[in-house]
Amino acid sequence: MEKISYKEIGLVTTKEMFQKAVAGGYAIPAYNFNNMEQLQAIVLGCVESQSPFILQVSSGARKYANQTLLRFMAMGAVAMIKEAGSNVKFALHLDHGDTFDLCKSCIDSGFSSVMIDGSHHKYDENVALTKKVVEYAHANGVVVEGELGVLAGIEDDVEAAKSIYTQPDEVEDFVKKTNVDSLAISIGTSHGAYKFTPAQCTRNEKGVLEPPPLRFDILEEIEKRIPGFPIVLHGASSVVPEYVDIINKCGGALKDAVGIPTEQLRRAARSAVCKINIDSDGRLAITAMIRKVFTENPGEFDPRKYLGPAREELKKMIIYKNKEVLGSAGKA
Ligand code: G3H
Ligand code: 13P
Ligand code: ZN
Repeated sequence: MEKISYKEIGLVTTKEMFQKAVAGGYAIPAYNFNNMEQLQAIVLGCVESQSPFILQVSSGARKYANQTLLRFMAMGAVAMIKEAGSNVKFALHLDHGDTFDLCKSCIDSGFSSVMIDGSHHKYDENVALTKKVVEYAHANGVVVEGELGVLAGIEDDVEAAKSIYTQPDEVEDFVKKTNVDSLAISIGTSHGAYKFTPAQCTRNEKGVLEPPPLRFDILEEIEKRIPGFPIVLHGASSVVPEYVDIINKCGGALKDAVGIPTEQLRRAARSAVCKINIDSDGRLAITAMIRKVFTENPGEFDPRKYLGPAREELKKMIIYKNKEVLGSAGKA
């Protein structure tokens, strides 16, 4: 594939977005996408709410949708925004890059931002890998997100089921040695729809699971060590209870799914956290609407009739998140 710079495509990096977000006490949304309907919902939702955004692509998404097609879809999004007469800017970001080669491939094919997730490596190896990616990225004007600390997932084995929180003592050294542009941290969030086991939660009087609070004390310690430095929160879906309810009422089986309460995300967005990653909530919005259509009209077989409502709901959710949770609406 011929090398192309994000600048030729009309994308921006996260540099200016993050500076403004940290100063303004809000966070930039990073929405994952794998298909056309998700892309349309993200673009239209962010244009309507006048929010800068990060279009996020995982290596799984690249495999699912084809890496070349995804890149052209991002180019299409730039054109679509322009045609709508909007000045909303976005970055195209690799989510959870795990090797130098993957990051390089994305940089060479027009991404404006990459994440190198070396968090599962030993500290020194994470530093060396991140530094190598940063050197290549910066030579191409691209920005890099690194990660320190490991997010738990309850699907992991017992040992990894506990978060390994970011150690505030390491962050200054890591940022200095790697020259990374932003840092993902672990303060109690995790990926997916099952962020906490029922045993980790308490049940309120209505029987609803309430998760343990995020470790804002660790976040504050980190902020003291690297004041004003852009911090990223992964695993930040709320696992919107309304969607989980619709899914379960319409034949689904999402038992005890639980996410990060909106109030805690708002608090994070007001801090040095300037990028909040959301994937699972989008998946839930889509699944809820598709299940609803099929339950109400089992004879439906035109994909537009179920993907359309799913896309509309995702757009609504994005506008809500930008306005009420991240505070990025109106900041384009
Ligand atoms: O953090 C991971 C994102 O939710 C992407 O998930 O690897 O299944 O595309 P994926
Ligand atoms: P969620 O699973 O909470 O949406 O997190 C997504 C994420 O962190 C993508 O990198
Ligand atoms: Zn993530």
